[in-house]
Amino acid sequence: MEQLRIPGPTPLPSEVLQAMTKQMINHRGVEFGQILSGVTDKLKQLFQTKGDVFLLTGSGTGGLEAAIVNTLSPGDTVLSVSIGVFGERFAAIAGQFGAEVIPLRFEWGKAADVDAVRQALQAEPKIKAVLVTHNETSTGVTNDLASISSVVKEFDKLLLVDAISGLGSISLPVDEWHCDVTVTGSQKGWMAPPGLAMVSVSQEAWQAHSKAKMPRFYWDFTRAKSYLEKWQTPWTPAISTVFALSISLEMMLREGLHNIIARHARVAKAARDGVKSLGLPLFADESHASNTVTAVASAGGLDTKKMLQILREEHKVILGGGQQRLDGKIFRIGHLGWVTEDDIKTVISALRVALPQAGFRGGS
Ligand SMILES: Cc1ncc(COP(=O)(O)O)c(C=O)c1O
Repeated sequence: MEQLRIPGPTPLPSEVLQAMTKQMINHRGVEFGQILSGVTDKLKQLFQTKGDVFLLTGSGTGGLEAAIVNTLSPGDTVLSVSIGVFGERFAAIAGQFGAEVIPLRFEWGKAADVDAVRQALQAEPKIKAVLVTHNETSTGVTNDLASISSVVKEFDKLLLVDAISGLGSISLPVDEWHCDVTVTGSQKGWMAPPGLAMVSVSQEAWQAHSKAKMPRFYWDFTRAKSYLEKWQTPWTPAISTVFALSISLEMMLREGLHNIIARHARVAKAARDGVKSLGLPLFADESHASNTVTAVASAGGLDTKKMLQILREEHKVILGGGQQRLDGKIFRIGHLGWVTEDDIKTVISALRVALPQAGFRGGS
């Protein structure tokens, strides 16, 4: 079997695949309503929120746009805490819709420094919201969101969180950490196919929403809420993805969030230990290394592109490359959703064979 180990989409359990073969149903009918109600309830448990949770048909980036346009007005000042490609994307969306973005960038591979966030908030009282990435997929780093959140809330600002590749796999109690809008995507740790962004909305976010003037139509939370009251979505949803998610969420609740988080921690450790045993350096600062994706720095003459090709063609192991300025400099092992330590052992064994063929001259 192919080992698809990119940081989403992920392989899917057969029960989930099966759910996607179901015949279409009326998305304004009773059956869909029951499924949507069940999915919403399960998501609230896994987000650990009593706030609203909406299913938006679109990819994660759509969810990020929804977070911005539903809570902000053109001219609002936002602090963008960015540690990689996806932090930059979140800021770019805000800028595109007319927010004044104050960038607070950290070296790629490192987590955000909480004191620097505090200083930035002290320096500019006009800041209305803070944009932050929970788990930066491009560098394999998880931010200390609990600490960032407590600083953001010291200053009473809105906290908009890109948790696309972390939520459901890495601890993120949405209410306890006062996240105002939290965004994730079905193709990440949720063992479901792409097609849905899932977003939570706090009371504070609703207050901001009532004054927010950025243009919006498709992503409008008011519409999402009014339709959810009758267990519908405003627009035709990705029905097959909802079927799949309904089953994968059942599986997740059976396993238990605590156990899922522990499994991701174990699998990530196996990935990091395995990489180190090959003599390759981790790209991310290990004290903040992600439990859903491991970024590995190229070293010892390794041609990462050639290595990815050998893995794909000769071992049926699919890993991720580096994005943007990390292209050719790192590769990434995704380990989120439906994944065990055995899967990672397979990846490491394949790497052991492929590395010397791709020019690597280091290691044990
Ligand atoms: C942290 C993060 N943010 C945003 C995105 C964008 O999500 P999508 O590709 O679903 O639009 C991704 C996808 O990899 C991600 O990992």
